[in-house]
Amino acid sequence: MKKILLMVSAMAVSGLGFGQKAIYKDAGAPVQQRVRDLISRMTLDEKVGQLNQVNGGVLTGPAVANDPGQQGKVKLLKEGKVGSFLNVVGAAQTKEVQRIAVEESRLGIPVLFGFDIIHGAKTIFPIPLAEASAWDTEGAFKAAEIAAKEASSMGLHWTFAPMMDVSRDPRWGRVMEGSGEDPYLQAQLAAARVKGFQGNFDENHVLATIKHFAIYGASEAGREYNTVDVSRYAAWNYYLPPYKAAVEAGAATVMNSFNLFEGEPASGNNYLVNEVLRGKWGFKGMIVSDWASFGEMMAHGYAANETEAAIMALKAGSDMDMESGVMRNTLAQSVKDGKVPESLLDAAVARVLELKFKLGLFDNPYKYHDEAKEKASLLTAENLAAARKAAANSMTLLKNTDNLLPLKSPKSILVLGHLAESQNDVLDFWKGLGDHKNTVTVLEGLKAKYPGATITFVKGVNRDGKLEAGAEAQIKAAAKKADVIVATIGLYGDLAGEARSLGNPEPSKGQMDMLAAAKLTNKPLVVLVQAGRPMIITELMAKYNTILYTWIGGTQHGNAVADILSGDVNPSSKTAMSFPVSVGQIPVYYNHYNSGRPHKDGNEGPGDFWVSRYRDTPNEPLIPFGYGLTYSKFEYSDLSISKPEINQNESVTVSVKVKNSSNVDGTEIVQLYIRDLVAQPVRPVKELKDFKRVAIKAGETATVTFELPATKLSFYDADGNTLLQKGDFKIMVGPNSRDLNEVKLVLK
Ligand code: NOJ
Repeated sequence: MKKILLMVSAMAVSGLGFGQKAIYKDAGAPVQQRVRDLISRMTLDEKVGQLNQVNGGVLTGPAVANDPGQQGKVKLLKEGKVGSFLNVVGAAQTKEVQRIAVEESRLGIPVLFGFDIIHGAKTIFPIPLAEASAWDTEGAFKAAEIAAKEASSMGLHWTFAPMMDVSRDPRWGRVMEGSGEDPYLQAQLAAARVKGFQGNFDENHVLATIKHFAIYGASEAGREYNTVDVSRYAAWNYYLPPYKAAVEAGAATVMNSFNLFEGEPASGNNYLVNEVLRGKWGFKGMIVSDWASFGEMMAHGYAANETEAAIMALKAGSDMDMESGVMRNTLAQSVKDGKVPESLLDAAVARVLELKFKLGLFDNPYKYHDEAKEKASLLTAENLAAARKAAANSMTLLKNTDNLLPLKSPKSILVLGHLAESQNDVLDFWKGLGDHKNTVTVLEGLKAKYPGATITFVKGVNRDGKLEAGAEAQIKAAAKKADVIVATIGLYGDLAGEARSLGNPEPSKGQMDMLAAAKLTNKPLVVLVQAGRPMIITELMAKYNTILYTWIGGTQHGNAVADILSGDVNPSSKTAMSFPVSVGQIPVYYNHYNSGRPHKDGNEGPGDFWVSRYRDTPNEPLIPFGYGLTYSKFEYSDLSISKPEINQNESVTVSVKVKNSSNVDGTEIVQLYIRDLVAQPVRPVKELKDFKRVAIKAGETATVTFELPATKLSFYDADGNTLLQKGDFKIMVGPNSRDLNEVKLVLK
């Protein structure tokens, strides 16, 4: 009798009657019904618990005060107070954590495992900014898909990617994570990556996160976590389009950003989250804070205390608290005190639970935790081949003045610079679970590519870019036996990523001295620049004739470099960010407004005094957006449009002939820009509206066509309404944002 009584009370606790299966456990019931049923069984504390994301592994943000520690976290898990873990990874480890959640908590609600899989899990692809410079949406989709396959095999359900913060400031360390300065290119790639990551919400994919919402890339002076202060008009036209495209691509989650918008932290920003994201765009998914960003509303001077911060976040439409603990600490009490309606809490909890149901975790909580699958999924030959191809397609040839490249059959190569031998530095801070031991350096790549050649290495400079003692003499001696010198300069890998702003991203003096010593030997010299951002390379571009900007290529970096240097891959990449002439020029970007007193570089005559220009620096960047060379030579001609005028429901066909006048097959990235000549508000001097990667055989001419609907001539007003204004437009097509042919189009 005693035993039966015990059973009855246990069932009462879990809300079940005799013989009754809880609806939320019924795999056949509709998701919404299961969610409602489960919420009806949850205590206030359990509900708030679902809104907490707790770090369980490496720190990807500052350590939090009062961290409960490992035992404390297990206790929270058992009490149903963890909705998600971040940074817990590996099929075995995640399985054990999941077991505790499912088998040892009262309602058995599974946890979500999230991690920053930014450009690969174990097989690391080139950094996203480099990948963007390949202008290859299919490639980006494939890279995300492979990353998702590896990540999900390691027990992860969710990646905090893709990042799509438009940025014009290479001082900001996080430009490496996004797709550069242009909203259109950024949007195309964001959508492709979302689809690649998510697939159909199955155990070979991971949920994607739109981040960082919003406008984080406009941090003043490129300083991390700094103020953002842009107008709504700029927000709508320059910064918001990629997030919108990713919502339309079906991304399951969104992450708040750290910054202010209109003086209000993004995490508590009603306009951004409720009005735009959930309102205008109809986003129905779950919103997670950035690391401790709910709590940081206090440091911003926006919330007076944790209670206020949690309420502000919830009221503004955000759901899950990554690491700040303000929800866990205060929200239940706030509901009891009537400061926030329980229905608002329930709505947030429902969004978290819905994801778990959609992933099928209630029906099979262990579907992502299969060690054999994990072993078979990582670093496969197929994944490595895809990463190698992606890296080679992402490396941007900036100069090849003497046609030194490709190096067909060098007998001896002298390789210079610490970066050439460093396995660590082909990975950046956001290297996922990538291990430097699996990477290929430039030195290794060249050795594998040219097995018959003698390859020697002189370090020249160390990791911090300082000249090694005796470097000049060593270079001189070693160069005597070399046909060609390949020198690496740039930034060490860990300088790319969060909290890595630089006031002066230039090559170091030691690196420039190393190059000078190499030049003195009069041997042909190839310079490789390795960095996660455009560096200030004005002096380098002036003094050296062969420059490949390799960015940070990931696991297969060295093989990709060797593929390009040898000519096995003809480079095709075009930079997704402008390279400034100097720090003083920043921000410099192609899609600026004309100003009332425009200036064109080169016109510095007496009549060009009271104009918008520097007195010591050109206006144009050193290297324009969309620029990059190939081993082929492409000539553009015959730009035409199918009709000179269109109305608002029509489209026009734009065509251009592109001739490969070289004897090398190649791929050209053909870019289409527009300019709306008169508009209210005014429009930029150029806006990218389409692009195509076109393979053209040596000697052949391709006719490249673009369908340009009138809707692509539209823009947003400051409230996010679409405006399509009649008038004259320039349609411009060419190989980069500077060298364009143009025709006129009239919108009636
Ligand atoms: C902070 C970063 O801003 C964000 O991008 C990342 O996803 C989280 N930390 C988790 O690591």
